[in-house]
Amino acid sequence: MGNKIKIGALVSGGGTNLQAIIDSCISGKVDGEMVFVGSDNPGAGGLKRGEKHSIPTFVVDYKKIIHGYKEKPEQTMPPEDFDLDEILSKQHLFPSESDSKRRRQYFITRAIAEAELLKKIHNHPVDLLVLAGFMRNLTPYFIDRFNTDPDHPRIMNIHPALLPAFPGVDGYGDTFRYGAKVGGCTVHFIDYGEDSGPIIGQKAFSITSDDTIEAIKEKGLRLEWELYPECIQLFAQRRLKTVKMAYRLENGKIYSKTIVKISK
Ligand code: GAR
Repeated sequence: MGNKIKIGALVSGGGTNLQAIIDSCISGKVDGEMVFVGSDNPGAGGLKRGEKHSIPTFVVDYKKIIHGYKEKPEQTMPPEDFDLDEILSKQHLFPSESDSKRRRQYFITRAIAEAELLKKIHNHPVDLLVLAGFMRNLTPYFIDRFNTDPDHPRIMNIHPALLPAFPGVDGYGDTFRYGAKVGGCTVHFIDYGEDSGPIIGQKAFSITSDDTIEAIKEKGLRLEWELYPECIQLFAQRRLKTVKMAYRLENGKIYSKTIVKISK
């Protein structure tokens, strides 16, 4: 007791994971306190869940920002400290051969939104930021300003698939359509790619021939509500450490990857 971490959450939808985390903080399963709920979507049910618990909420309306830029690109300025070349050199969201105008538009609009997010978050300092069904990728603009110590990442995400299989926006749907016999969920730290950061924890379930997509989502979500609080508690107990591992493969190439080590 006494040593509770402060947690902030970003949500886009109904917020059942957010609820599981709030409940775990209240029950003591997580030594933490939820201090804000933010969203990119003014209609997110997760905001109401936050309000019910008297947790401060805020919205950064991404759609409005993106629309504004498309209407009047010349009048929409990125934040003063925005450096497109630096972002492009770090990001892993777009392949380098992709349409450069689209990439530019993407990173400018996201930096505008992310600068607003950072401003709102500044009012509620946190130890850990959890993405709980936040359907936007964070770019290096946000990540570098929030993760000030690269050795101690502090943005977590939950993904509805057993990563690295089925990254993207519809993990359970992709698992189902592929005909996989096992599905699952993954909690990981955020890095510069999409669902590619170091894995903290995973839970799996069997898929039978009778399972519909709805059944798979239900099985998966139940596991998410257990997994996310467990991973957050490991963070609260300071048991998570990221380590860069390197291996020489049979073909002589070096494979390196930052992974999470969990101490006892
Ligand atoms: C969850 O299944 C979560 O894993 C997924 O969105 C759902 C949110 O549900 N997240 C992603 O797909 C992130 N790319 P919730 O709003 O009820 O927590």
